[in-house]
Amino acid sequence: MKKTKVLIPILLLSLVAVGAVLALGIGESAAFTAQPGINPLRIPELIDSMENDDIQLVLQNGSHSFYDGVLSDTSGFNGDYLGPTIRLYRDSVANISFTNRLEEPTTVHGHGLHVNGELDGGPQSRIMPGDTWSISIPVAQEAGTSWYHPHLMGKTAEQVHAGLAGVYIIEDENSLALDLPRDYGINDIPLVVQDRSFTDGRMNDYAIDREQLFNGLREDTLVVNGTVDAYQEVPAGWVRLRLLNGSNSRFYRFSFASGRPFYKIATEGGFLNEPVLMESIEMAPGERNEIMIDLSDAATASLIADFLPVDPEDRGRQRIPRAQVLELRVSPELEASGSLPEVLNDIAFFSRSDAVKTRDFVMEMDGINGDRNSRDNSLPANYKESFSINGQSMNMMMVNERINLGDVEIWRIQAERMPHPFHIHGVSFQILSIDGRPPAEADRGWKDTVVVPPKKVVEVILRFDHAASDEYPFMYHCHMLEHEEGGMMGQFTVSE
Ligand code: C2O
Ligand code: CU
Ligand code: CU
Repeated sequence: MKKTKVLIPILLLSLVAVGAVLALGIGESAAFTAQPGINPLRIPELIDSMENDDIQLVLQNGSHSFYDGVLSDTSGFNGDYLGPTIRLYRDSVANISFTNRLEEPTTVHGHGLHVNGELDGGPQSRIMPGDTWSISIPVAQEAGTSWYHPHLMGKTAEQVHAGLAGVYIIEDENSLALDLPRDYGINDIPLVVQDRSFTDGRMNDYAIDREQLFNGLREDTLVVNGTVDAYQEVPAGWVRLRLLNGSNSRFYRFSFASGRPFYKIATEGGFLNEPVLMESIEMAPGERNEIMIDLSDAATASLIADFLPVDPEDRGRQRIPRAQVLELRVSPELEASGSLPEVLNDIAFFSRSDAVKTRDFVMEMDGINGDRNSRDNSLPANYKESFSINGQSMNMMMVNERINLGDVEIWRIQAERMPHPFHIHGVSFQILSIDGRPPAEADRGWKDTVVVPPKKVVEVILRFDHAASDEYPFMYHCHMLEHEEGGMMGQFTVSE
């Protein structure tokens, strides 16, 4: 009797294990990197707009070594993969020029920047090969972490995947007055998290089939700042990480090994009012969060990423693959500085009655090419019309919404089939409700990208302070880049 009782659970366990291995075989190949923590984390060069009033960024093709001795074809800004971190200061003007040395047109969008449409770098702001696009950015927003990446119709997903992305750090009076860690690359570290796949150590070029169009490209190897199997030496004190999910479509849940707690201090567009203690944090493509961890006990901390399944209901049904993002090793040589402030910000929250208008947006996947279960897995020829918002696939010749400058509006957003990260250009918004409930404390901050769960309603409230013309409109779209390319995007103008 006793033996049977023991045997059955073991049998069940091994069945579950076999199931997990089989499940991993389909689409989600083993996500554990082979040798976690063997490569020093690459820290993007920092360009400070106070010290450089003519910032020059060159978009170029290159070859990047993810694995020792193996080169991959990649692209970057001033380098082989990704680009420098640009530090901006509120109430100052930053002059930046982007020179296109790729062999194809591109654009460079400032994701999270509060600027007018002609500085936004949307699909209309083409930079032809050999040309330079120069902009002067009047920095008019709170301290936070934003980013830049191409936004050319039909090329965004591919160019970002090749490595074209970089971080903007915005500082203001408040951020400079707070006693936060701010030694760039030492205790204030940008982490651009992406998934990529490799063949014999060589990064696979961008290519998608029908399934990847629908589910978004989801690859098996975690890359941070262009580094696989990364570690970073840090001081024995507070460490501030600026997380950016720069993946094409992968959603992650980040945590530290053995449930070590951390604090979230900022969302995309600025600091939370107070730090929020957390044990894990979920991030969709396009989202940024700043977190802080106390390493004064000098113990090594491993940042882990769970690769969340496309269908949230699969979370309980499948083993969730995970990978180590980064090992933080304390070095006695490095000097600790900064602390965790009790108060970070004083956000003026909108109230519903501030809004003069409510608009509805439904992200739809049941378009003309909507047969996800087709047995033919090739990409539909007209896949750029696969998806839509409010029944309309992205059309550059069409302005979908017209907004009055200075108006406060509520945008009520819904999604079909799977969670979609909805992003709006040129503004930050506050979440009013998710499925009828107010947002969690950790989400009560300025955001520009929000996950809309399937069949639930997310309401955001925002004020449109920056103009965008018919010639250079703003975009709203799903930030799964495959969905964006598939037409899940619309345009809006903001004018008097
Ligand atoms: Cu990250 Cu429309 O952009
Ligand atoms: Cu954007
Ligand atoms: Cu989507």
